[in-house]
Amino acid sequence: MAARREFMHTLGLFGLSLPVISKALARQQSYTPSGAGQPLILCSRDEYWAKKVLPPAWAAFSASGNILDGIEVGGNVCELDPEDTSVGYGGLPDENGIVTLDASMMYGPTHKCGSVAALENIKKACSVARLVMERTDHAMIVGAGALSFAKAHGFPEENLLTEQSRLTWLEWKENLSNEDDWLPPADKDYYKKLRKRGTINVLGMGNEGEVAGLTTTSGLFGKIHGRVGDSPIIGAGLYVDNEVGAAGATGRGEELIRTCGSFLLVEKMRAGKSPQVACEEVIERIFYVNKGKDQVNFNVKMVAFNKDGDVGVASIMSEEGTSPYASIITAQGLQPVPGKVMK
Ligand code: GLY
Repeated sequence: MAARREFMHTLGLFGLSLPVISKALARQQSYTPSGAGQPLILCSRDEYWAKKVLPPAWAAFSASGNILDGIEVGGNVCELDPEDTSVGYGGLPDENGIVTLDASMMYGPTHKCGSVAALENIKKACSVARLVMERTDHAMIVGAGALSFAKAHGFPEENLLTEQSRLTWLEWKENLSNEDDWLPPADKDYYKKLRKRGTINVLGMGNEGEVAGLTTTSGLFGKIHGRVGDSPIIGAGLYVDNEVGAAGATGRGEELIRTCGSFLLVEKMRAGKSPQVACEEVIERIFYVNKGKDQVNFNVKMVAFNKDGDVGVASIMSEEGTSPYASIITAQGLQPVPGKVMK
């Protein structure tokens, strides 16, 4: 109660109104760990997307008992949803207006992993990554080879560009420079606004404590055609270890590649750090390689859990003015997990 009063007082000092305070309080919940070795599925987003992603993921896991089935269904929810503009169908395109997808999956008990990069025309990129892991002795397949591999496994070839993502790309292209030949329309309402969202990590622990994870994305909006981010790079956008836990990253992929962000996070947990401290220390490492937090003008968000079911969330910047959030589903239901903003 005292903590709540103090929180209200602090918000009042910032001149925040009661409805804003109530909303912030509603989101200021702490996460109760489900306990060592208890099954869970984590997604790297707040409740809005967690309500879409986690119940079907949990249902798939409950039906088969395989944590890989659960996380894959969770990743597929975002990949198939055109409202999600950074993953799968409706993802924001590269500078040529082409949607290319990156995804990875990793399984703790075997330490096997699979990923695809610069994949075009296939919606369920994380499912293709799972097949690379389970049905090849390779770890990564890219570009035209990834498309051929997906088609060999029966995935339909489909256009990933929605009307909304095409218009968002067009707005970007037409406003990029005053010195090129692309001109914006006089009618500014011509463009439709999109709710932009980042990459998603879905991490899970099964009935026997088996740890797994996936990351899936359409990558950086307006990227050079062929650019690959951190999401399909094992150790950058995703890493799991069956003795330790799982970690995933979203945000500026180049920074996660050069810090091996997810591998670093898991190794910090192996050394005894809590998931929260480990997430924060990876963000600190990103500040370090950039010569200080003042030099940093991009966002990165780290999420992780350990084998005790403790969860960590930290980001460089806030998301839409609030804490960074992840969400967890367990046998007890769905819980949002607030994190820490580091800049
Ligand atoms: N983290 C997604 C990307 O940079 O591609």
